[in-house]
Amino acid sequence: MSEKIQAPRGTFDVLPADEAGRSRLLQAGAVLFERAGYGRIETPIFEDTALFARGVGEATDIVSKEMFTFEDRGGRSVTLRPEGTASICRAYVEHGMHKLAQPVKLWYIGPYFRYEAPQAGRYRQFTQIGAEAMGSDSPLVDAEIIGILGDLLAELGVPAVSLRLGSLGSPEARTDYREELKAYLRANESDLSKEVALRIEANPLRAFDAADPGTREVMQNAPTLLERLDGEDAEHFAEVHQLLDAAGVEYEIDPTLVRGLDYYTRTIFEFHCEELGAQSQLGGGGRYDRLVAELGGPETPGVGFAAGVERILLSLGGEPPVPARDAFVAAADDGQRHRASALVAELRNAGLSAETDLAGRSLKGQLKHADRIGARVAIILDADGSAQVRDMSTGEQQPIDPAEVAGKIAPDPEP
Ligand code: HAM
Repeated sequence: MSEKIQAPRGTFDVLPADEAGRSRLLQAGAVLFERAGYGRIETPIFEDTALFARGVGEATDIVSKEMFTFEDRGGRSVTLRPEGTASICRAYVEHGMHKLAQPVKLWYIGPYFRYEAPQAGRYRQFTQIGAEAMGSDSPLVDAEIIGILGDLLAELGVPAVSLRLGSLGSPEARTDYREELKAYLRANESDLSKEVALRIEANPLRAFDAADPGTREVMQNAPTLLERLDGEDAEHFAEVHQLLDAAGVEYEIDPTLVRGLDYYTRTIFEFHCEELGAQSQLGGGGRYDRLVAELGGPETPGVGFAAGVERILLSLGGEPPVPARDAFVAAADDGQRHRASALVAELRNAGLSAETDLAGRSLKGQLKHADRIGARVAIILDADGSAQVRDMSTGEQQPIDPAEVAGKIAPDPEP
């Protein structure tokens, strides 16, 4: 026998039984986004590598360690997208969306790729659902974006959700702070992990994210950017709080919050599920007021979020519901199988979900199968051309005119 080929490490198949939860999430998202005036956008799954190098930042883990990058047959370096914001900013510029009424509000769902060490809730191919609003620097948009992700998690019933909020200020304000932080890290270098110590110059803020106890202890007394926030940055952050307070959104201000992407300015946030363990971050986002310009477009502020679909589904746990069928058409003997097939087609054309036996089962076996697939009724076609309808929950059976079956069975009100 030939050797079996398995799905690549860190990937998974989505089987029909997993689909119910995923489509419920997609539908809940679509309703919330459309209500708030966000239009759906789809961008390519691979892009020019330079887009992410420039947009997300060379010094980030994502760009330096986690990208699936390869040369295509034309010798161009392309990368499977590790996140969506850079691509959407590229599309905003490419399609001249700055000429539309601002802000331009977009949402998306699709696969993303990061070469990370796989574990529960962390994959090499995963799905993000997200939104980006470009063209306004008003704190109203920050609050709207945070509110939509909060509403989506609440609508789906995600338990133990917490929201962490921070601000990175403007890049100019951050430059002074970075110098202060670098000096602090250098002074404590011997207690830092090797990885953090090596990146003091390139990415000092990431030290707040480190997991090793030595670095964590050093970071407890590190100066924070929030303490240094002033002028318009501080006002902007204060207004975001006021708006969230007024909307009744609960949050915790986290001065150590840093995100793994370089494009952020001002507001940053993360939603966590405390029941999820190590990979507790359900979704995150923030403002990126310089990104569109960095990608060659006009100065355009933006704010958005992305959430991990698989992590949301993990947080919901439980067995997905078995989708019910309106009817199963059973043949009392083999001579009725063609009639059964024709009736199934008629029922489906009438908008009902219907199946018949395709595995040569006995009548008893067919009724057992009807039960297994959650059919509400079984139509039994008898050898003499008559038919009976059986209520699958009570077992009650009565004659029915075969010509009237489609009209007599109502579709399930909650398919
Ligand atoms: P991110 O925090 O890198 O942000 O990813 C967003 C979400 O994607 C995470 O909270 C997590 O739920 C999920 N996720 C990330 N990596 C993995 C993985 N390896 N396996 C499973 N799930 C994962 C962004 O990507 C930004 N583009 C968000 C954003 C939009 N900021 C502004 N606009």
